[in-house]
Amino acid sequence: MGTQQLDNQQLNIDYKVDHFFEEKIAYYKDQPSGECAQYIPELKNVNPNYLACALLLPDGKIHLHGDYEIPFTLQSISKVISFIAACMYKGPSYVLDWVDVEPTGDPFNSILRFELKDKQKPFNPMINAGALTVASLLPGTTPTEKIQGVVHLLSSLIDKNVTINKKVFESEWETAYRNRALANFLKEHNLLASSVEDTLFTYINLCSVEINVEDLAKIGLILSLDGFDPVRQIQIIPAPIVRLTKILMFTCGMYNSSGKFAAFIGLPAKSGVSGGILGAVPPSLRHHPLLSDGCGLGIYGPAIDENGNSIKGTRLLEDFIQVYDIKIF
Ligand code: DON
Repeated sequence: MGTQQLDNQQLNIDYKVDHFFEEKIAYYKDQPSGECAQYIPELKNVNPNYLACALLLPDGKIHLHGDYEIPFTLQSISKVISFIAACMYKGPSYVLDWVDVEPTGDPFNSILRFELKDKQKPFNPMINAGALTVASLLPGTTPTEKIQGVVHLLSSLIDKNVTINKKVFESEWETAYRNRALANFLKEHNLLASSVEDTLFTYINLCSVEINVEDLAKIGLILSLDGFDPVRQIQIIPAPIVRLTKILMFTCGMYNSSGKFAAFIGLPAKSGVSGGILGAVPPSLRHHPLLSDGCGLGIYGPAIDENGNSIKGTRLLEDFIQVYDIKIF
């Protein structure tokens, strides 16, 4: 096939993907949206109609659609970065001495398991209990040092500085009754390596880091390629840590929808209550030609379901998977 033909084929594929997302986003924008997270006051007031997506390919080409310029906070997506940071600094086996790798089937902020069995390790680092433990394990003695370690890793992944949305932080800090209770349970069982208040301060600040869908797609692409950034040609995270993280995203990343998500979307993904979804599509010859080298996905739709996952974002992803067949199995 000549170069011109290849270029035309590529343009055709690009056009189809752009057309696909434009059409779907326009369709979902007109549908009733549902509600944004209600328990964090600052998230309640976000426009529930926002919908955006970013798809980043290993050659650096990015497809951006919908409200892609709107920033939002990482919320639970920070759990992925914190877990990676803790594993990079402390080693995965040290971290897994403190937190398990089992899905729960319970809500993300459930307290239930602590009352059922004495001194039970948090089930996994993607639920709040596990993420609080991981936050306490981060390197550094003060919360500021712990936060900086994760922010530094995140900045190196997306190649830009990030800021913490102080309004969102304050809003969650003042109303973090359940996370405070969880942290107290953890402390009682010697499952926190720092004080309750320091751990909460670290965790909530990390949930309040601001990003956009393009940033999520960059992270997703690096995860899909086992820690390698194909655009800058550097290995940022050791591959075994990324593989472990992707398994946890696949089995636990969407909370008590993780099983359904694995079955019907079939990708390592992580959601946050602000409506973001981070997705990693590993390379596979079985995929649509556009995506056979893998890609990163960032989705944003702030109205969430009862499990804390973006309603329209999940639907958009489902439609994408149907057409482009990018499930990992
Ligand atoms: O700890 C919390 O409740 C929030 N900062 C984060 C929870 C979250 O994003 C759950 N995700 N879907």
